[in-house]
Amino acid sequence: MRSTLLGLGLVALMGSAAMSAEPELPPWLFIVPPVAPAAPKPEEPVLHVPNSTVGLTQSQLRDLHNAPDWHPDGHPKPPASVMHGGHTEYDACGYCHLPNGQGRPENTSLAGLSASYIIQQVQDYKNGLRKSSEPRMLPPTYMAAVSRNAPDADVKAAAEYFESLKPMVWVKVVETKMVPKTQAGAMLMPVAGGGQEPIGDRIIEVPENVEATTLRDDHSGFIAYVPVGAIKEGEKLVKSGIGGGAACKTCHGDDMRGIGPVPRLAGRSPTYLARTMFDFKTGARAGVWSGLMMPTITNMTQHQMVAVAAYLGSLKP
Ligand code: HEC
Ligand code: HEC
Repeated sequence: MRSTLLGLGLVALMGSAAMSAEPELPPWLFIVPPVAPAAPKPEEPVLHVPNSTVGLTQSQLRDLHNAPDWHPDGHPKPPASVMHGGHTEYDACGYCHLPNGQGRPENTSLAGLSASYIIQQVQDYKNGLRKSSEPRMLPPTYMAAVSRNAPDADVKAAAEYFESLKPMVWVKVVETKMVPKTQAGAMLMPVAGGGQEPIGDRIIEVPENVEATTLRDDHSGFIAYVPVGAIKEGEKLVKSGIGGGAACKTCHGDDMRGIGPVPRLAGRSPTYLARTMFDFKTGARAGVWSGLMMPTITNMTQHQMVAVAAYLGSLKP
């Protein structure tokens, strides 16, 4: 009895399956072109930089959540915030500031700055107290976005990592009358075959090796061309103080390597230093601790900023 019931059930099931089967569509009525097989992606060339066994492709180099790390032995193991950021919400600190914290002229070096200074600056960006005087300059707007989206714990981990790094000689400061003609990208780049032009009252900071910098090599530094005489003039101003402000060493230390949370200035990118002094002066940078810089900055001329930045950049970091 039981098996008959089961058998009947099966027949019923099979019947309903047969009834719901789709009729085969006549292909001459429902016309579907053949699917073209996906063209194979061209193999991307694997790129290299000097003195590294790492190989990376252009796509990998564009990934802001995986900081290119050409020299993993050149620094301690970074926390996730430095190498990956927050997977979607903010970019890896090390993508822009480089895994060894040496930075690039359009951002800045963080290696060896105190963690409390780093944390305070990120707070200032986040609270809109620190901006760029030029809103069309993109990198500072990216930094502002990072500051709004990075959780405090991630910023702290990154800050402690950058504090632990030893800054290295990264910028060669060269006095000169003539400089290569340059064009604007994220930073100034020499125009290939573009010849030379007079430096004027400017600092022209360019990669030592354009290709390596383009690949974000954190072992390839920069050359900052400065006007003849700028280093000596800057030295005098730093030693005397400017416009009624105290001598810089009072706060930044005898060798300009910083004291506590007051940042190191020695050996850092001269264009970054000049740009941020400009930002203090215009008020675009008005962070919680910026008031201490104001007596120095208020009467400082652009010419003096060039000289001071040239001298500071030339010091041993
Ligand atoms: C997309 C690029 C980018 C990323 C990612 C990035 N920064 Fe920045 N950062 C910048 C730029 C550009 C500046 C300079 C902005 C300016 O001119 O004020 C800067 C400046 C800073 C400064 C100021 C340093 C000084 O000497 O005053 C600190 C501190 C800093 N960043 C920390 C961080 C930390 C921590 C992270 C990761 C949580 C991070 N940044 C991620 C681009 C970036
Ligand atoms: C009274 C103390 C004091 C004196 C004197 C002083 N500074 Fe500063 N400086 C600071 C503080 C504090 C900061 C950090 C400001 C902030 O957080 O916005 C700073 C920041 C800077 C920065 C920005 C560094 C960075 O990482 O972004 C530069 C450049 C600078 N000072 C240059 C100078 C020069 C040049 C002199 C001398 C002519 C000088 N300062 C004298 C206290 C001082």
